[in-house]
Amino acid sequence: MKATECIRTRRSVRTFNGEPLRADDAQKIMAFAETAGNPYGLPITWELLDAKKTGLSSPVIVGEDTYIAGKMRRMPHAEEAFGYSFEQIVLFAESIGVGTTWIAGTMDRSAFEKAVSLETGEVMPCVSPLGYPAEKMSLRENMMRKGVKADSRFPFSDLFFDGSFDKPLPAERAGQWQIALEAVRLAPSAVNKQPWRAVVCGDRVHFYETRGKVRVNVDWDIQRIDIGIAMCHFALAAEECHIPVSFLLEDPGLAVPANTVYIATCAVG
Ligand SMILES: Cc1cc2nc3c(=O)[nH]c(=O)nc-3n(C[C@H](O)[C@H](O)[C@H](O)COP(=O)(O)O)c2cc1C
Repeated sequence: MKATECIRTRRSVRTFNGEPLRADDAQKIMAFAETAGNPYGLPITWELLDAKKTGLSSPVIVGEDTYIAGKMRRMPHAEEAFGYSFEQIVLFAESIGVGTTWIAGTMDRSAFEKAVSLETGEVMPCVSPLGYPAEKMSLRENMMRKGVKADSRFPFSDLFFDGSFDKPLPAERAGQWQIALEAVRLAPSAVNKQPWRAVVCGDRVHFYETRGKVRVNVDWDIQRIDIGIAMCHFALAAEECHIPVSFLLEDPGLAVPANTVYIATCAVG
């Protein structure tokens, strides 16, 4: 399955069919996780957690028996790096028929942190259940999806700009970046806030975070994880379009709207 296809078909799965994660799928996911790097080169340790043995659960998830969690040193760019790496695992799981849901808030955080033996100076930003989607979503899942309008995304030209923030970029004028930016648009985000913005300047695309009020009881910026996910989608889709890209930290100094901060630049080459 191509990355852009997984990006289009993936959705958060909160109702699983109760079948335990098959050993070969678990093995494939963990082998893939070892390869899921990020532009910051930050190492992340991945762990599979047996929900029953450890007593772990999430109030919004039913029918799961396994979670995956990642932990890393707390350091600058940890959030974007985590989003970038974890989303590759999420898309890989999708490609082999395993459902996931990014979870940062709706869990007993201290129980999960204990299960991964989180140490001082480390963070475990998110976890995800792993399993096989049930045929029918639970009532709660349906209601949650409606509550955050999970099936919709902002229009292309609300998110992406041509050279400066005062010039919206419609999809049909995005040229070589159209498919990669559309992959960003479809990305999952906490409470479906879609905080990514991008300004296209020729062969460079500058990514920004528009800061909203997503409250999770942690002392790091959850929306930076969303931007890491967006960067991952962008790079995977660009690669599929045979555009080699890499990320740099070179703020172009563009005028930005209120509450908007520069995150990273993606450049051809
Ligand atoms: C960083 C992050 C944290 C999230 N945390 C939660 C969570 O705690 N509980 C939950 O039910 N969904 C959570 N989600 C899932 C989002 O609500 C979901 O991705 C969004 O509504 C879009 O729906 P979709 O994933 O089905 O496309 C999170 C997503 C992201 C990216």
